[in-house]
Amino acid sequence: MLLKDKVALITGAGSGIGRASAIRFAQEGAKLMVADVRAESASNTAAEIERAGGIAKSVSVDVRVGAEVERMVNETVSAFGRLDIMFNNAGVFVPKNVVNTTEEEWDWVVDVCLKGVFFGCKYAIPQMIKQGGGVIVNTASGAGIKGVPDLAAYQAAKGGVVIMSKGIALDFARDKIRCVSICPGVIETPIAENCNVVSAGASQLVWERTTNMHPLGRNGKPEEVAALAAFLASDEAGFITGVAVPIDGGLSAGSFAPPAREHA
Ligand SMILES: NC(=O)c1ccc[n+]([C@@H]2O[C@H](COP(=O)([O-])OP(=O)(O)OC[C@H]3O[C@@H](n4cnc5c(N)ncnc54)[C@H](O)[C@@H]3O)[C@@H](O)[C@H]2O)c1
Repeated sequence: MLLKDKVALITGAGSGIGRASAIRFAQEGAKLMVADVRAESASNTAAEIERAGGIAKSVSVDVRVGAEVERMVNETVSAFGRLDIMFNNAGVFVPKNVVNTTEEEWDWVVDVCLKGVFFGCKYAIPQMIKQGGGVIVNTASGAGIKGVPDLAAYQAAKGGVVIMSKGIALDFARDKIRCVSICPGVIETPIAENCNVVSAGASQLVWERTTNMHPLGRNGKPEEVAALAAFLASDEAGFITGVAVPIDGGLSAGSFAPPAREHA
């Protein structure tokens, strides 16, 4: 088991990558605090973990609000006695460029995706220092390392997460705290539905459009990102810090055109 007896707190764990990671971390032996702004989805994930024999509690949090993030960290430490892994994963997007993004949309996306990660680190790190170390995993995006059309606020936030994670890795390395970010390509989660970009049930149409842009010829699965996060959060990755890890089917490797097929 990669995470035996570790205490992990995951935001945005009511859905998608966060949910799959909570389930995987629990399978790897971790005790989970499952956090989401949608309280019911967080408690559903925790209940699913417990039904499978794992240990999990849930908490409702809006990561944009510092006092709520502080309370979430405190509740985790009260429940489980420590905090070994802080996985700042909650995220939202608005598919617009800088001209048509409103100030409210900018604030929503940047506050969830970047300020939320800031708060998660701000309140987790003192506890990690007190207990002698820990790991922070932040979900950035492929859109945080490469330009993508119509994702202005999201790109700004995710690029911020990538570079902030590197700085945190340096600031707290001697406190035995590792900090990494993850940069997924398109992963098949309901994020577009959750952000009201498409109507309920229409994610499939988005995925059909994006599948071919990855050199491997498919989109990613939340369970694949969960497997990466579990490894990075584990002691097996003990010499890895300050990196932004792509998990994108080759998307960030370079420009790509599917090779022409010879017909026999
Ligand atoms: N799905 C992709 O293609 C993809 C690609 C790259 C990066 N990401 C990133 O991965 C992370 C997880 O996304 P996902 O695809 O699993 O999406 P998702 O919508 O399935 O899950 C995101 C969760 O975050 C929660 N959330 C939203 N606002 C919140 C807030 N203010 N406070 C607390 N929780 C909040 C949502 O309720 C939701 O349960 C996000 O940071 C996203 O930007 C996703």
